[in-house]
Parts: sequence; C-alpha cells; structure tokens
Amino acid sequence: MRIDILTLFPEMFEPLRQSIIGRARREGKIEINVVNIRDYTEDKHLKCDDYPFGGGAGMVMMAQPIGSAIEAIDPNHEARRIYLSPKGRVFHQQMVFEYLSYDRLLLLCGHYEGVDQRVLELFIDEEVSIGDYVLTGGELPAMVIADCVSRYVDGVLSAGSLVDESFSENLLEYPQYTRPVEYRGLTVPEVLRSGDHGKIDAWRRAQAEAETRKKRPDLLGEEK
Ligand code: ADE
Repeated sequence: MRIDILTLFPEMFEPLRQSIIGRARREGKIEINVVNIRDYTEDKHLKCDDYPFGGGAGMVMMAQPIGSAIEAIDPNHEARRIYLSPKGRVFHQQMVFEYLSYDRLLLLCGHYEGVDQRVLELFIDEEVSIGDYVLTGGELPAMVIADCVSRYVDGVLSAGSLVDESFSENLLEYPQYTRPVEYRGLTVPEVLRSGDHGKIDAWRRAQAEAETRKKRPDLLGEEK
C-alpha cells in the first residue's frame, strides 16, 4: 500500500514516523509519502491560497498548485483520491476494507476555508469526513485514515491482533486484564485465570455483547 498525503503543512505528519506505523514504514511494508503542495505552485511568491470570489472570511486554497501536485504524483490516476472535509461521507470501519482494495490512496488535506471547487470536480474521487465536527484542517483526518488502513496491511500488526478487535463483528471488544491479579481491591475475573479456553471464549463473547448493548446499542440494531 502506498499513501500519498498532499498538504501545506508537511511537518504535522511527524506522528506517522512513530510506533507501529513508523516501524512498518521503515520495514517497507507501507509507503507514506508526504508532499508539500507549495512545491508545485507556479506563483513567484509561492502563494497557494487567495481570497474567495464573492467575499467572505478566510482564504481558499488555489486550484493550480493542487492540480499540478496531483498530476505529478498520480499521473495515470491509479490512486483512490480522497479529499478530507467536514462535508464528506462520514468515515467508518467498512470504508477501511474498501480502501484496502486499492494499491494506492491519495489524501488531500484542505486548510482555511477549503479548496477551490474545481479541484474536487477535476481531480478528486470522493470527499470524506472523520466525524461531525470541524477541525482546522484535513491533516489530522488524513492521519486517522492512514493509520486505520495501514494496520490491516500484511505484516504491520502481529498475527492475531486483528481477530477480536472492536467493530470486526459489529461488537465492541471485551475487557482486558494483565498482571497483577489484584489491584486496589479489584481482581481479574476467575475465568480468565482458569486455563479453560472454551469458557474464556464464551465469557469474552458474552462480555462483548453486554458491552455493546450498554455503550453502543445502535451497533446491534437496537435503539439507544
Ligand atoms: N477538515 C476539517 N474538519 C474535518 C473533518 N471533520 N473531517 C475531515 N476533514 C476535516
């Protein structure tokens, strides 16, 4: 999987050099390529935004630097091209599996009042939001998508890590415990220490269902 991220703020992507994603990049399991849109401006002052036609507050990202960057990075339109915006389809775990069917993703980060509409019409396949709230730009949403997708790429997580996780069966994950057996008067449930894997599986399944019913009944098709 190759993920190209187009942004005016490449320094914001330092977190993708850490932890699991950082290691997967160093090991060549995923390729994340952060591109500075400003490198593609034809303006002699390196300008990438301008006042909106019709007036109003804020600045709009210009079409030319973005269009030139996309054409240079994905000349044959091989990538699924996604623009991060609060107006988009709301991101969901099922979309992760959809994106894994592409070899390449291109994530365009808007900033200020967004991008010139012609960018969306000419170059973008879909607009995606990570939730019903407004952020200062698309950089954090791009990191969210890159992280969610990368963890399913072969070899990024250890075998088994993905098996029981939240949402994989529309259930939230069961509670987890580690040592010590007792902490401030609370003990690890007996069954988890029994060594009986049949019983442990049944307990975990029941806990996952109870947890989901309590916290997210909508996932079970029930009213909140
Ligand atoms: N840009 C600003 N807010 C956003 C959101 N909620 N999702 C995606 N991109 C955004």
